[in-house]
Amino acid sequence: MRFTVAIDGPAAAGKGTISRAVAAEFGFAHLDTGLLYRAVGAMGGDPIAAARGLQPQDLARDDLRSMAAGQAASRVAVIPEVRAALLAFQRHFARSAGGAVLDGRDIATVICPEAEVKLFVTASPEVRAHRRWLEVGGDAAQVLAEVIERDARDMGRADAPLRAAETAVIIDTSALTIPEAIARAVAVVKAAR
Ligand code: CDP
Repeated sequence: MRFTVAIDGPAAAGKGTISRAVAAEFGFAHLDTGLLYRAVGAMGGDPIAAARGLQPQDLARDDLRSMAAGQAASRVAVIPEVRAALLAFQRHFARSAGGAVLDGRDIATVICPEAEVKLFVTASPEVRAHRRWLEVGGDAAQVLAEVIERDARDMGRADAPLRAAETAVIIDTSALTIPEAIARAVAVVKAAR
């Protein structure tokens, strides 16, 4: 069975939590595509060479969830050759036997436009920054500024900018609890199966 759930959205909108829950509910494989860009950004040196030579162990570094790694990721993510180097792996994963959930910025628009389910998960910048601050701590105003800066870079880039696919179902998690957000996503997937 090939079945792809594409989940896109801005930083800290809840994509990861929803993706893991949907994957667990339906027994699908899950790929957090942001980790690929975070790993490339964290490796330093030439990002194009890093993307072309990316290895599974590069995704296991324990510093990839930091704010700095997020910023480094969004800087290398504007480079078309970096995106091209990561494309085939993601497309192949999307068609995993048994179904797949991929979350990122361009899954429904570029990586897998034929995905059976397309979700765009979003929330207000303030809510997203607060959630990220609970995870990483530090100065709350600085976290909000970095979230806004990263969103602007992700939406403004020429290659695969962050945007909702025309047929995506939008889930705004600003006023939803985690179980409510998961229930909405699961209902959309159930309806499409
Ligand atoms: O967890 P969070 O939503 O903050 O970020 P992430 O999904 O780990 O993505 C980190 C950065 O990688 C994003 O800000 C994008 O610049 C880039 N990215 C991308 O360009 N395309 C993707 N499919 C996934 C991430």
